[in-house]
Formats: sequence, C-alpha cells, structure tokens
Amino acid sequence: MEIDFLVIGSGIAGLTYALKTAQANPAAQVIVVTKSDENESNTKYAQGGIAVVLNKVEDSIEQHIQDTLRAGDGLCDEEVVRVVVEEGIERFHELLQWGANFDKSEAGEFILGREGGHTVNRVASHKDITGYEIERALLNTIHNTSNIKLLTHHFVIDLITDHHLQKRSVTLGEETTCYGAYVLDYKTGDIKNIAAKVTLLASGGVGNVYKNTTNPTIATGDGIGLAYRAKAWVKDMAFIQFHPSALYQDKEGQRFLISEAVRGAGALLKTKQGERFMLKYDERGELASRDIVARAIDTELKISGDDYVLLDCSGINETTFKTKFPNIYHHCVDLGIDIFKKGIPVVPAAHYLCGGIQTDLTGRTTLKNLLACGECAYTGLHGANRLASNSLLEALVFAHRCAETATAINQETGPIPSVPPWEDEGLTIPGEKVLITHFRKEVQSVMSDFVSIVRSDKRLQIASRSLEVLYSEINELYRISKLSLELGELRNLVSVAYAIVEQSKEQRENRGVFFNRDLETH
Ligand code: SIN
Repeated sequence: MEIDFLVIGSGIAGLTYALKTAQANPAAQVIVVTKSDENESNTKYAQGGIAVVLNKVEDSIEQHIQDTLRAGDGLCDEEVVRVVVEEGIERFHELLQWGANFDKSEAGEFILGREGGHTVNRVASHKDITGYEIERALLNTIHNTSNIKLLTHHFVIDLITDHHLQKRSVTLGEETTCYGAYVLDYKTGDIKNIAAKVTLLASGGVGNVYKNTTNPTIATGDGIGLAYRAKAWVKDMAFIQFHPSALYQDKEGQRFLISEAVRGAGALLKTKQGERFMLKYDERGELASRDIVARAIDTELKISGDDYVLLDCSGINETTFKTKFPNIYHHCVDLGIDIFKKGIPVVPAAHYLCGGIQTDLTGRTTLKNLLACGECAYTGLHGANRLASNSLLEALVFAHRCAETATAINQETGPIPSVPPWEDEGLTIPGEKVLITHFRKEVQSVMSDFVSIVRSDKRLQIASRSLEVLYSEINELYRISKLSLELGELRNLVSVAYAIVEQSKEQRENRGVFFNRDLETH
C-alpha cells in the first residue's frame, strides 16, 4: 500500500491532524491506523476538559502561561508554552465548528471549571465526559471526509526506516528517514506494509507500564516503543504524572478517574479518620498542582498504612454534583459508594507521560518525515509536571502545526522507494500465552514497586537490572514467534519501561512529578 499520509492513533491528536491534512490535500490519501475501536484512546476518558483562555476579563494569556510554567517546575520551554496558550484559543473554536459541544450557561457563556494549579476558572468541559464528546465530533466529521480511511484493530509493528530498506542497523543520532510502517491486522493475521510520504505518531500514553492506571488497557506506549527502536530521540521519560484521585477498588488495572474538577468544585481530601491534610503540604490545599497532591496522598497512605484516602464531597450541593459530574455520580452509585455521606475512596494512579518523542515547534521528530503530537510527543510544554487539562489543548495546537508541516513535506517529497515485505518466514505462533502474560505482569510489578511516585537510587538499580533480563527474554520470544497484538504490546511496554528507568537514573534533581528520595529538591 502506498499513500501520502499515515496517521498512527485515533485520539484527539491523530484525528485532528487527519482532518486538517485531508482538507489541505484533497487529492491525497490519509490512512488512520488504530489498535482498537475507532474511538478507544486516552482522549475518550478525559473528563476534566480543555484549559483555554475564553474569559478575557478574569483570565489572560499571560496568567495561563504563568500557571503552566509554575506547574512545570522550571522545566517548561517558555516559547512552546506561549505558542500553545495563544494558538489554543483559535484551535478550540475550530473544534466547536466540527460540532463538539461544551457546557454553556443560560446566558450563552462557557461554564469554566477549576483544576489543580490554575489560578482562575479556565477549563471548558462537556459535563464529565469531555473526551468522549470530542471523539464523537471528530469521528463524525471524519466519516464525512472521503479521503480519510480508518483501519481499526490494526497494530503497528515497526516503523519502516533505512534499517529495512538498506538492511543495516541504524545508530542514534544518524540521519534516518521514515517511510511508513509495518502493520498487523490482528483479526486476520495479515501484515501490511504501508509506505507513506509522511508518518505521524499520535499513539497516546504509557499508563499500562504500571499495575494501576487511569488509562485504558490499550495505552502501552506503542508510539514511543516504535520511535525508540527506530532511534528517534525520546526525552523526559522520567516524568510520569500520577493523578491524585483515581477511584480506589480492590483490583488492579484501569482505574476510574474522579476528575480534579470535583476538587475544583469544593471536594476535600481527608484521611479515613476524617482529617483534612492537604494544607500541611501546600497553601493551595486540594488545588495545588497534581505532583504535590499525589505525593501528599502517597505520604499519608504510607504513614497510616491505609489503602485509600477519602474525597469528601459533602460541601458540594447534590444537584450541582449530579449535573456537573453525571458520569462519576452514576459510576459511584452503581458501586454502592455513598458520595455525600462517606466520601469517595481515592488513590493516585499513573495518568500521563510528560515526556515522549522529542519534537520541534513544527512537530518534526529527529527522523526525517516522521512527526509526532499528543501524549506520545515531548514538545516542551509540560516541563516536569503537566498543568491539568493542558494536554487536549497541546494536542489541538500541535496537530494543526503537524498538518502544516506534513503538507509541506508532501509537496517536496518524490516517490517513496520500494519497501520490502515483512519477513516472518519460519516463525511460529507461540503454543501458549502464559509467557506473554507473565512478562507483562512482571514489567508492571517492577515499575509499580520501584519506579513509582517516590523513587530511590537503589530501587532504580534493581529495576534496571530486572528490566534488562526481561528485555532480553522478551526479545528472544519476539525473534522466534509470529507476531500477535499481545506480543507487540509487550515489546513496547518493556522498551518504554526501560527508557523510564534509564532516564530516571540520569535525572539528578527532584522536579515536578519526579522524586528520588536520595536527591535534593532544587
Ligand atoms: C481530570 O479530569 O482530572 C483529568 C484532566 C487532565 O488529566 O488534564
């Protein structure tokens, strides 16, 4: 298959880019490859919303910039912050034109919520299912765009680079070009080589390197695994954001999110004994930035030995809660949680990767013709800790910039060289899946026990040694097996875990979400 634009991922970043690229290049063909159903992505589970300056009386671009820089704890790229905050306003209005609905008052003003680290109400939302609504609107528009094709239940095995064309290994830092990707249709077992002039990685987050995450099970760091193996630069992987308030349940896996907007509406964090504790840690209390709140909860849980803290919602009017947070309300009620009398049991859970595939302001990675945006990309916006609800904004702004870059590349790029087919002659389907499930659990255990909210030099050393063994076992399994979705995901998970650990060892100062108890805080 030979096309102009290949998009990997169908969250807000991939879909926005696909639409813009298709509209700017009506004669070109855009293919969006996505691993699961068309709307399954981290975007779909975003509750809070989009941080954007819509109220120019109480808010300002400068104030949003300052809040982002403060949350990022000195590691944001200020130029990128300015670009995202300024351009985000126009991008948000485009989203409205594509049919996304955001909550408005009877007077027709956007209702703006508050989240941690914001000094004013700035978060535009669609109740507590903002991401779901965005996906609906984007997909609806895409279904009416004839030069975009969606390939669902397709898993990208590897990017096609000079390594495949010239049959030689490629080293980090060498000029390398991306020519598309090898893609597994895991329902039929077919492997397609999709050659493309421009490839975009918009494949989302890495939450499943941990046992507990707010991310769906598909968030296995695929784009980062692909980029890492293709020798693109991957940066700031040590900065994993844990969301302070995931719903506590006595089981591992995807954790239901209790949006920070609930704290923004007045909920308080308390120990099981009913003691409010956040003011001991930060004068902003429950609305301190996420790194501070998550670490405070972690500390309290270690002191008390409890499994969770409580989010006391008794200060929020019941009708207001039901109107603003219907999804959270029904989810809790279905589980028998008495939201207003007893509070919601919550714990921190892996939520967002602040680092990722390094890009410049045009969305270019260090590989020619390979772009990245959304959670899998490191643009410099988030620094050491992402400000709440800045990620959907970043995805919109960089999807637009990537579409401009891709259009320019398409115009200046000649025919794609012929791409060799995927070679799996002689490989066999593993007779049993136990090795894959075991290795996946082992990676998650190592990361959850040693590379979580609080790290130490010793824990990182143990994690590094364990992952080296796992890495070589998994590679050996990959070398002799026909590829399956589960094996491909495992290969990506171990690559991402390894990058997180190695970059955590290199990080010698505590900043934002990164905390190693053997280091000084700057
Ligand atoms: C939330 O609703 O608390 C999550 C929003 C975000 O991660 O930015």
